Amino acid sequence: MVDVNAFIDEAVNRIREQVKDGKALIALSGGVDSSVCAILAHRAIGDKLVPVYVDTGLMRKGETDRIRELFSFMNPRIVDASDQFFGALKGVTDPEMKRKVVGENFIRVFEVVAKSLDVDYLIQGTIYPDRIESEGGIKSHHNVGGLPSVIDFKGIIEPIEDLYKDEVREVARALELPEEVAERMPFPGPGLSVRVIGEVTREKVEVIREANAIVEEEIVHKFKPWQCLAALLEKGTGVKGDNRCHGWIVAVRAVESRDAMTANHMELPWETLNKLSSRITSEIPSVARVVYDITPKPPATIEFE
Ligand code: XMP
Repeated sequence: MVDVNAFIDEAVNRIREQVKDGKALIALSGGVDSSVCAILAHRAIGDKLVPVYVDTGLMRKGETDRIRELFSFMNPRIVDASDQFFGALKGVTDPEMKRKVVGENFIRVFEVVAKSLDVDYLIQGTIYPDRIESEGGIKSHHNVGGLPSVIDFKGIIEPIEDLYKDEVREVARALELPEEVAERMPFPGPGLSVRVIGEVTREKVEVIREANAIVEEEIVHKFKPWQCLAALLEKGTGVKGDNRCHGWIVAVRAVESRDAMTANHMELPWETLNKLSSRITSEIPSVARVVYDITPKPPATIEFE
């Protein structure tokens, strides 16, 4: 990016001009993209910004409480919609359908809030690679391709739609967002639903939420990956105590990347891999096996779905 401060001034002005005397809703997720958009929009329109955080039940461990704390100065509305999301995802196994279901339900929740508050615009943290992959038909990112066609807003505003992730982080630092937000790993809009192969249930999400927390604890600070995660595969046979069991197989992935368009797996030390396998299988009793993914993107994607 040539001049980050010029970008910020321009983005703030554009939001102010678009929203005018209206109100705008921001879908706050706590990730760097939506956080940057929220700060830009807050600068532009102050109290006319309505930040909404939807607790889908698909977020990482502790995320909802952290967001409540971090953005308290904006007075975010926290909507518990986990029943709605798990209900809508029941029986859905196709990855693209999951994205559509999650995307649609997000919008439905926002619409209800928007109507009750007389909100005109929706601000979204779509970035350039999201657009390219959606337009190319590679994957329908829930915040682009998953949008239902009839939306009750006067318009959608996407202030960072032309930026790559590292540029968004540059803007975040210039906006003095805390490091934990500015340097936060990407996390997909459909949340843990795309880290569970097949049907999404509360039980599976609980398992993978714990596994993701362990993976982040062991990898993020020490190795600074572009992204690291755990995904829930199938069940396989294991032995726990004196008994054979049918336990979950958890895949661990840690990658380096510049823009998420391509990625390479990290060559983590065996010591770390051993620790991950031992912690995940002992701290999550229903897991019997841990595997490490060594596939680059392409041909694999970063997420498992
Ligand atoms: P993939 O798995 O396609 O992911 O290599 C590339 C980057 O995008 C994130 N990702 C998503 N982000 N909605 C999002 O907002 C989505 O549906 C979605 N799917 C993947 C992924 O975590 C990675 O950073």
